[in-house]
Amino acid sequence: MTSEDYFTYKGILFPKQEIKEEALRYVENEFQVRDDDVFNITYPKSGTNWMSEILGLIRNDGDPSWVRNVPVFERSPWIDTDQGLETALKNPPPRLISCHFPFQLFPKSFLSSKAKVIYTLRNPKDVLVSHYHFSKIFKLWKNFGTLEELLKEFLSGNVPSGSWFDHVKGWLQMKDRDNVFVMTYEELQQDLRGSVKRICHFLGKELNDQQIDSVVENASFQKMKDNKMSNLTIVKEAYIDHKKGKFMRKGISGDWKNHLTVAQSELFDRVYQENMRGVIMTFPWD
Ligand code: A3P
Repeated sequence: MTSEDYFTYKGILFPKQEIKEEALRYVENEFQVRDDDVFNITYPKSGTNWMSEILGLIRNDGDPSWVRNVPVFERSPWIDTDQGLETALKNPPPRLISCHFPFQLFPKSFLSSKAKVIYTLRNPKDVLVSHYHFSKIFKLWKNFGTLEELLKEFLSGNVPSGSWFDHVKGWLQMKDRDNVFVMTYEELQQDLRGSVKRICHFLGKELNDQQIDSVVENASFQKMKDNKMSNLTIVKEAYIDHKKGKFMRKGISGDWKNHLTVAQSELFDRVYQENMRGVIMTFPWD
């Protein structure tokens, strides 16, 4: 892959093989959000598939049959891909929909709907490391030789879905709406059961203790790693080089400490502080 395989739409990079410009225009301006839609929104590598699994299990009262039998990209299709958009348009309501759109590219019809949005964010240093490893196996993303090279592009927003800082700031502006719920990867890690209960409450879906136990058990890293409908091993070789690595990689918080030098981490902190000035919210990694 080279960066020529990307195109820019409204300042954001998209892989050419993943989506066409007219689809982006359609999603933004014409896609009809339904009141019963539930959106799983993230910056890439922040726990999108994990949240899809959790939402799929909650939807089925903890019964794992659906997540074990239907691929994640059909259960909760990504509307920022041509294929996912087609699937989302065909799926019967109530729909689960995933995407990595920055807020400014998200369907405008959302603003006048009651659709629910769960926005999951993750320590951007771990996002960077996860992106680095995923880019080695995901053929639609530029494969960076070194983390140092990716770091520069990441900090300047020259990667798919644009700047992490802009993405997070854009979505956090929506956080006080009743139909928007913000979650972090780290909270899921620290207290999955408590997080599942909070998500259920937001969705207006009250599960009993046994059903919650089943959601927690089936959304564990190991269960997802073993579930071929969730671990992306069924994705065609044209997209993922399965010989080179696994999507379900480590699934931990703080792996950046094993990858970033002190100088790289300090540079990251400086750029973070400049960009996040004015954001009145504390995050688990602060
Ligand atoms: P790592 O590469 O750090 O292991 P996304 O779905 O947004 O692409 O995010 C992928 C990251 O989420 C990967 O992180 C992956 O391992 C992690 N992940 C997926 N399912 C998980 C789970 N059940 N528990 C913890 N982490 C999970």
